[in-house]
Amino acid sequence: MGFARISGTGSYLPPTVLTNEEIASRIDTTDEWILQRVGIKERRVIADNQSLVDMMEIASLAAMKSAGIEASDIDLIIVGTVTADHVFPSAACLLQRALGVNNQSPAFDLNAACAGFIYALNVADNFLQTDEVKTALVVGADAFSRIVNWEDRSTCVLFGDGAGAVVLQSSDQPGVLATQLHAQGEHADLLYVENSVWDDFTPKYVHMRGKEVFRYATEKLGDLVGQLLAKCNLEQSDIDWLIPHQANKRIIAAVARKLNLSEEKIIQTIEHHGNTSSASVPLALDHAVKGGLIQRGDVLMLEAFGGGFAWGAALVKY
Ligand code: ACO
Repeated sequence: MGFARISGTGSYLPPTVLTNEEIASRIDTTDEWILQRVGIKERRVIADNQSLVDMMEIASLAAMKSAGIEASDIDLIIVGTVTADHVFPSAACLLQRALGVNNQSPAFDLNAACAGFIYALNVADNFLQTDEVKTALVVGADAFSRIVNWEDRSTCVLFGDGAGAVVLQSSDQPGVLATQLHAQGEHADLLYVENSVWDDFTPKYVHMRGKEVFRYATEKLGDLVGQLLAKCNLEQSDIDWLIPHQANKRIIAAVARKLNLSEEKIIQTIEHHGNTSSASVPLALDHAVKGGLIQRGDVLMLEAFGGGFAWGAALVKY
C-alpha cells in the first residue's frame, strides 16, 4: 500500500475586502471587539455575479498547475462545502465540467461544515489506497456571506468567502500519515442553517451558540491532535506546522498549547480571511506553501471543527 501525497496546492479569495470598520458602520459592533475576541480584521466577500464554482475553478487550476497535472489526469473530485450553488448537481460535478474533466471519474460533495476539507482528505486518502484512483482533486470552498444574517453581530462578523484545493496523488513517498474523523449529532442544534428548499422559502441563516461551540471545539480538538500523534508514534516536537481551522484565534492558541507549539509554528490567516469554513485549512496551507514557509518533508498537523458537530485532523508529510 502506498501513500497519498499532496503534489499541488491552490487557493482563491474574491477581491472584495470587507473590513471590521465597514461592518461597524452598519451594525452595533467594533473593530476592537472582533479583533480581540476572534482575531479577525477583514474578510473577503464573493461578488453577486460570482459562483462557488468560479472560486473553486481558479483554486483548482492553481493546484493542478503546481502539481503539473492536466484535467485528464484527475480521476476523483471531492468538494467539502455547505454553500454549493445548487441543491444538485453537486458542486463537484459542476467543477468537473468547468475544468473539462471528461473521463467519467467520480465527483461528489461532502458536508461536514467547517470540517469538510479534512473529511474530504480522509475519503480521498482511502480511495488512493485502492487501485481505482491515482490522482484526486480535493477542494474546500464556501461562501458564508450568502448564509449569514448581516444584522446578527454574533455571527456575521466571523465569516469570509474563499476556496482552497489540493491535488493528492498516489506515491511511494510518505504523504498523508493518518487522519481521524469524529461527529456528535447530539449537538446539532448548537450550530446550524435550516433547509430552504421544502419549507417557506424565506432566507435561512447561520445560527450558532458561540460559547458552547467554543468550549467543545477547544476540548475535542485538543484531545484529537494528541490521539493522532500517538497513532503515528510521533511526538509533539515532530510537528513542523500546525494548520488549524481559522475560526477563532483563541481556539487556535488552545490547540497549539496542547501541542506545545510556539506561535511561529502556527499558520494563521484568520486576521485577513476570517472563517472561510471548508476553505480555511486548504487556503492557509496554500498561503504557507506559496509564502515559502512550508517545505517538502515538513510534518503538518491539519485540524478543523464545525457544525454537526463534525471535526477531524490529519497528519501529513508534505
Ligand atoms: N460585537 C460586539 N459585541 C458582540 C458581538 C460583536 N460582533 N457579538 C457578540 N457580542 C456581545 C454579546 O452580545 C455579549 O454581550 P452581553 O455580555 O452584553 O450579553 C458579549 O459580546 C459576549 O458574547 P459571547 O457570545 O459570550 O462572546 P464570546 O466571547 O463567546 O465570543 C464568539 C463569541 C467569537 C462567537 C466565540 O464564542 C467563538 O468563537 N465561538 C466558536 C466559533 C466556532 O468555532 N465556530 C465553528 C466553526 S463555524 C461552522 O462550522 C459553520
